[in-house]
Amino acid sequence: MPLPKLLGRAKPADPDHVGEPQLAPIEAAAEAGLTVVDWIDERTALSPGVRWLMFRKVPKGINWAYTLGSATLFAFLNQAVTGVFLAMYYRPDVAGGAYESIRNINDNVFLGQFVHGMHKWGASVMIILIFMHMGRVFFFGAYKYPRELTWIIGVVLLILTMAMGFTGYLLPFDQRSYWATIVGVNINNTGPFIGPYLGDFLRAGPEFGATTLSRFYAIHMLLIPGIMAALIGFHLYLVTKLGISAPPWVKAHEPEAVTEYVEV
Ligand code: HEM
Repeated sequence: MPLPKLLGRAKPADPDHVGEPQLAPIEAAAEAGLTVVDWIDERTALSPGVRWLMFRKVPKGINWAYTLGSATLFAFLNQAVTGVFLAMYYRPDVAGGAYESIRNINDNVFLGQFVHGMHKWGASVMIILIFMHMGRVFFFGAYKYPRELTWIIGVVLLILTMAMGFTGYLLPFDQRSYWATIVGVNINNTGPFIGPYLGDFLRAGPEFGATTLSRFYAIHMLLIPGIMAALIGFHLYLVTKLGISAPPWVKAHEPEAVTEYVEV
């Protein structure tokens, strides 16, 4: 059975399309990209999903403040990519190895200081962006029905982002990160009911030492990023499913704006 033609023009050699205009080689080359997309789409049928995600209608009156969620996503991806490269050289060893491996990244590895800097400063940028995004959502009233679940997932993402900062801070294992993390773990220890259990979990035992660093490293680079990636996926699914909320001033003065959309 002939395969259905999804995109692009008929190929000259296709016996089902004899008599149709032939493509010049230069045109055929220009359509090579489309052919690859066709090939993948025939086998996966993913294009309707991609179209649903990417080509959405957005309400009138939106502005730059609506890009803060995507900026936060970009910061997360930056952390993920730079983190992978740092993990190739980092050693979670308390006997000087961890500190030494970071010194090696900064001093000897090609672009190491740049990648380390992107990861370190990117962490602060992500915290700033996530708070700005949350502020936009709060002050525009975008957390209200039907977006409560989007907000709740956002709160979990905020907590996890801060937990990433906390667990990452110990990894250089210098004097500052060591003592600051001891203070942090002790604060967790004083929490009601679950505090002592949380302290034990973070220390990975009664003493702060080698197992603590391994545990922080595993939490920092495997556990939390995995949960965050899944939650961001669900967050974005909800954003796409429910549509972006209209700005409050548009709602107040032009109630019809809720149903009137402009295509971007
Ligand atoms: C890793 C962190 C996060 C990422 C990557 C992220 C990503 C996004 C993106 C791309 C959008 C759509 C565009 C926009 O409105 O800016 C969005 C919308 C939304 N986000 Fe987040 N977000 C994060 C954290 C948060 C937090 C902390 C909250 C609140 C506590 C939150 C609540 C919402 C809500 C309610 C919407 C819907 C807004 C609307 O429909 O107007 N998000 N998010």
